[in-house]
Order: sequence, then C-alpha cells, then structure tokens
Amino acid sequence: MTEQAIIEERTDDLLGRGFARRDLARIAAIFGAGVVAASVGRPAWASGGVPDPAPNAKIRIGANECWAGPLAPGQAAAARIIASGNRYAPHDERGDFIKAVMAVEGVPYDHVAPWPGSSDPLSRAVVSFCSPTRGLVTADPTFELAGRTAEWLKVPVKRVPLTADYVHDVKGMVAADPNAGLYYICTPNNPTGTITPLADIEWLLDNKPTDAVLLIDEAYTHFAGVPTASYLAAARKDVVVMRTFSKIFGMAGMRMGYIMTDPANIARMMRYDGGMQSGALPLPSLACATASLTAAPLIAARREQMQAARGIALDHLKARGLDVKPTNANMFMIDWKTKPAKDMQAAFRTQSVEIGRSWPIWPTVSRVTVGSAAEMKAFCMALDKVWV
Ligand SMILES: Cc1ncc(COP(=O)(O)O)c(C=O)c1O
Repeated sequence: MTEQAIIEERTDDLLGRGFARRDLARIAAIFGAGVVAASVGRPAWASGGVPDPAPNAKIRIGANECWAGPLAPGQAAAARIIASGNRYAPHDERGDFIKAVMAVEGVPYDHVAPWPGSSDPLSRAVVSFCSPTRGLVTADPTFELAGRTAEWLKVPVKRVPLTADYVHDVKGMVAADPNAGLYYICTPNNPTGTITPLADIEWLLDNKPTDAVLLIDEAYTHFAGVPTASYLAAARKDVVVMRTFSKIFGMAGMRMGYIMTDPANIARMMRYDGGMQSGALPLPSLACATASLTAAPLIAARREQMQAARGIALDHLKARGLDVKPTNANMFMIDWKTKPAKDMQAAFRTQSVEIGRSWPIWPTVSRVTVGSAAEMKAFCMALDKVWV
C-alpha cells in the first residue's frame, strides 16, 4: 500500500465515523508521532514483502536482529518480575533503569528517558524539531524512518550521499541545508555498518545553526565497541543520543530503548502523550534491559561472536570475488553489480534464507545481517547455489 493510499484509507475511516474534516488536524496532533510512525514507518523488520516472508525462512538475516535472545541476567530479571505484574511499579523499576544508564553512560538522571524501542523517539524528534521552514538533513543510504516521517509532515528533506569511505559527509550535510531544524546521524550507520568519527560529529555541532538539534542514532554501537557520543548529550543542549535494545541485546520483540538529552528536549518530545510512552513501560522489558545494560563482559563476548561469524561470511564472499563494502557492525553490504538486489533477495528466498533490503541509491547492493556462525555458514552455502 502506498503512503498516499494509507492516508486516504485512514481519512475515509475517520470521516466515515462522523469526524468532521476540520477535526482531522486536531486528531493528528493528539496522536502526534505515534500516528506518524505507525503510518509511514514500516516496521524495522519489514523488508518490503507483505506478508513479511521472514518468519517462514530458516535463516533470518534480513532485519538486523540479534541471532540470540536476551543476555542471561536480563532473561532472569524479566522472569522474576512477572509475579509482581499486578503493580504499575512494584518498586521503582523505571528509576532503576535510568540509574543503570547513568552508571554506564555518565549522564545525569534527568537526561535519560526510556522508550519502547527507538522508532518512536526517532519519529518524534522529527515532529518536535522540524517544521515546514526548518527541514531534516539525513544521509543516503541510511535508516529511512526519519526521512519518511519528515515527508509525511511535509518537512523539507535533504539526503546527502555518504563519503567515499561510506561515512556521513558532515560538511555536505550542513551545506545541503544550513538552516535545518534536525540533522540525523546514524553511527554505525544502517545499512553500511560504518562509523562516523566523533571529530566529524563535533564539527557538525560547531557549524550547524545553534538552535538546530543533532540526533545521533547509536542503535548498533555495542557491535562496534567504539567510544560513543553520550558525553555530547551530557554537555550540550542541542544533542539527542538514541539507543535501542533491539540489536546486540536481543530484545527487538520486547521493545526497549532510551534517549539521552537535555530535559527540555525530553519534555518537548513527550508533549503529545503526557509522557505515557516513556513513563509506562512493560516491567519485563524494563527489568531485562536494566540487567543487560550493565553486563559488560557478556556484551563484549557477544560482539566477539558476531565478529567471528562476520569473518566467516566476509572471507567466503571475498574468495568468491564479490565486492563487499567495509563494515564495523552486524551487517554488511554486497554489491552484486550485474544483478538487482531485489532479484538476489528473491533468489535467496528459494534457499529459505531471508537477506536484507536494498536502498534506491544503490539498487544492486544488498544488506545482509550477521547471524550466528552456523547461520553465516548456511548463508555461504546458499550463496554458492544462487551465485554461480
Ligand atoms: C538505525 C536504527 N535506528 C532505529 C531502529 C529502530 O529500532 P527499534 O524501534 O526496534 O528500536 C532501527 C531498527 O532497525 C535502526 O536500524
């Protein structure tokens, strides 16, 4: 269904239920970012097929999920708290979570807001900091949700190609719209897995309009194990750093994430729902996230497993003479050059392997998620059948 068709269907539904056309703007304002995200932000796992073909595939390496479930201490904490689920907050689980973030990231209590995943705050950042006169600047290719939300809102969007090293072209981003309301940097970037140096991020901060906000999406940072941008969220008022538990923590279906930013930005992003999205989170998800975030040795071990599994795939792809772009996260991009990525995705489906999508700027390039070592071996075997 196209975005226009979705809008028309929802509009017809509201009008059919007796709402007047003049009510629509008010309704949209109440639901705010939630409506935006639900309408235009296809779920992170959807690679374009309807219904989603991935659940039927034996090897699911299309959605940048983790190959394994939550870390053991997280699973235990989630299981423990279920018996107390009759209370909204049996103790102060939200506070405990925020304290864990403070300890790990070095940011003050009032700079942290937990959220059920990072898709919603990503859309909300666009709703909160952009307008028809203050646009969004994003990269190409990058995670698409911010751009889609902006288009929905009729906010001007500039998509700036990555540099030759596949990192964000921060100078190009400021030049593309020197008066934007929001600049979006995804590091490691989805889909390339590449890291934008903190020095480049600081350059962008020094050169953007002082009242514009920089959103730094670090969904994959634990897979890279490099210094993060949390210190910028603590030190400045114009930075939002965003995290999710959907990736290395293996909690995509449990919906947990958080933002780190100045309290005024948190208040602004929450103004659509009185803070419900961040204030009332499922207890098992909160407890699991708190216990996982502080399990540093287990996080490092998972990163090492990913690197070893990625090595298996990359060695094989190179031996087969394929062009694989550099990566520092749990995904890699293969340029098939002579075949559209969509056709290769379909070919892999015949082998019960669900690989990732492609981006319009690179139609012959597929994104593949790093799974377990066994999944990577199965991917290599499937490759040898479909790429002869
Ligand atoms: C870069 C990036 N940001 C945000 C998200 C949103 O994920 P979630 O809503 O599960 O936290 C994703 C999901 O794939 C992502 O790749």
